[in-house]
Amino acid sequence: MSPPTPLLCTLVLLALPFLLEAQGTPAASPAPAAGPDPVAILQGARQYSTLLQLLTTRNLVEEIGNLLKNNRDGLTIFAPTDNAFNNLPPGTLNLLSPDQQTQLLLLHVVGKYYSKDTLSTASNPVRTLATNYTLNFIGGNNQVNVSTGVVNIPVNNELYVKSPLAIFSIDSVLIPPALAGGKAPAPSPSAGGPTAPSTPAEGPTAPTPQPVSGSYRRRRVDWGVLLGAGVAFLGLLR
Ligand SMILES: *[C@@H]1O[C@H](CO)[C@@H](O)[C@H](O)[C@H]1NC(C)=O
Ligand SMILES: *[C@@H]1O[C@H](CO)[C@@H](O)[C@H](O)[C@H]1NC(C)=O
Repeated sequence: MSPPTPLLCTLVLLALPFLLEAQGTPAASPAPAAGPDPVAILQGARQYSTLLQLLTTRNLVEEIGNLLKNNRDGLTIFAPTDNAFNNLPPGTLNLLSPDQQTQLLLLHVVGKYYSKDTLSTASNPVRTLATNYTLNFIGGNNQVNVSTGVVNIPVNNELYVKSPLAIFSIDSVLIPPALAGGKAPAPSPSAGGPTAPSTPAEGPTAPTPQPVSGSYRRRRVDWGVLLGAGVAFLGLLR
């Protein structure tokens, strides 16, 4: 098969600058962040805007991101849904000091990766990122509960479970005993008050466009098209 050979050489020569450029580009632009992004996962799952808003106002997004990068044991996050926050007795969050809010949020984060299976084997009480608050994991048949002592709820949906990060959805906010006693008003039987803690109106926090990686991707596509055309052309010759 001698005819295709010079043509192939020409094609390769033509493609060479593109190939070199494509290889050079990633070094110039910042490498894409390795590893899972908890905020992106929560944003994608939609029903966690209150949690995301609180994490942002308490400046915990970066801290959690850093921990995820640096903590060899990984992280497990229990993510209360927007409904969970809405079901708190009215005003619960507002009665907490900023520090207490931070501790409350950190109670939902464990500095170790647990799958649903290993959750039930954890030795209680399990330390959390909150200074003084711990959690207990209570394994039943096929069901694991997470408990603070005053809140005891099943661990439901796995939003993301791949070492080093696990995110489980929960239907109640994990209130520690220290913050339940007298701090929050007792839930009234007529708990119809739709006092959502100023949830952002629908808008998930601004999407972050990434023009650099975008153009990089486009160039790769161009190169792919070129290669595809070359292969198709060679096929025609046969
Ligand atoms: C944690 O507990 C210690 C000792 O009981 C106490 O001194 C400290 O103030 C507590 N920290 C927080 C953040 O509650
Ligand atoms: C788990 O939580 C559910 C709902 O709160 C409760 O009915 C059940 O008894 C709990 N299971 C254990 C083992 O505590």
